[in-house]
Amino acid sequence: MRTITLGLLGLGTVGSGVVKLLQAQQAKLEQTAQVHFHLKRVAVAHLAKHRNDPLPSGTTLTDNIDDVLNDQDIQVVIETMGTVNLARDVIKKAIYRGKSVITANKDLLATDGPQLAELARFRHVDFMYEASVAGGIPILRVLSNSLVTDQINQITGIINGTANYILTAMSSAGLSYQDALAEAQEKGYAEPDPTNDVKGIDTANKLSILSQFSFGRALDPHQLTVTGIDQVCKQQLAAASQLGYAVKLLAIARRKGDCIFTFVGPALLPQTAQLAQIAGVQNAIEVNSNALGTTVYTGPGAGAEPTANSILSDLVAVADHIMNFDCGKEFNGYHNHLTTNSIND
Ligand code: HSE
Repeated sequence: MRTITLGLLGLGTVGSGVVKLLQAQQAKLEQTAQVHFHLKRVAVAHLAKHRNDPLPSGTTLTDNIDDVLNDQDIQVVIETMGTVNLARDVIKKAIYRGKSVITANKDLLATDGPQLAELARFRHVDFMYEASVAGGIPILRVLSNSLVTDQINQITGIINGTANYILTAMSSAGLSYQDALAEAQEKGYAEPDPTNDVKGIDTANKLSILSQFSFGRALDPHQLTVTGIDQVCKQQLAAASQLGYAVKLLAIARRKGDCIFTFVGPALLPQTAQLAQIAGVQNAIEVNSNALGTTVYTGPGAGAEPTANSILSDLVAVADHIMNFDCGKEFNGYHNHLTTNSIND
């Protein structure tokens, strides 16, 4: 069986989740992809912190990212560092060096996704990021593959697990905002700095990525009007509940002609609405399209295992592309479908 050699950048919640799942599901993965995966190098910021982390035998830990980038055996780089500027630089270098890249870095993708995808296309490598929106829901594949002949009119999402966890814990368990946030951090749902989660910025970034796939047009997340949940209090949630509503942090993008209208903020939903039932770290994306009408996709939106599962599903796709490319076929990553649903400018 042919070997595909991997490099991993970062060993935080997501990175260590990838290592764990890769080890636990190696046999199944390899049977599906029909290749052997060898995780050769893992780069971390602080070696001492990770010296005792369980890694597969034959995997080397380094604190020098260049050890991964310069290694010619490594064909696929999995980026889980989470920073924006460093990740942009590293991903560009990896792509230039002919390596496929898998990432969950929504902050970077919201602003640089289309350019990086273009660069990857130019270099004939894959750039995949299923885990970047709604962690465990394969929504990008749905939008890029299943809805390929359809026209999407609107997407409405609960796409930040931390915010939904906090709102649920405050309204059903009566937790204070601070206690609910602390729980979400403890469970590994929140970002290391949760500002983006609670201020709606993470939601806006993910809406931008969804817009790329739904309408073929990236939204500049900095241009969106965004309201977070950090000013929502228990009394407001209780009052909403008494009136028959649930409060959810919603992301909406609606196509009208050549325009896309957006909303990111806490909104009242009738308790009977499907999205109002989405509790805890669950995410949901409701898609309204011409051919299908309304479809709703739900699942875990954050956490090590769901996110790692999406990353490894990208890995299987990348492996397939590498094998096909070696047989003379062109790459066919989902980034190639990015403009399928595009609005004609
Ligand atoms: N902090 C993010 C969330 C993680 O809570 O949704 C997954 O993107």
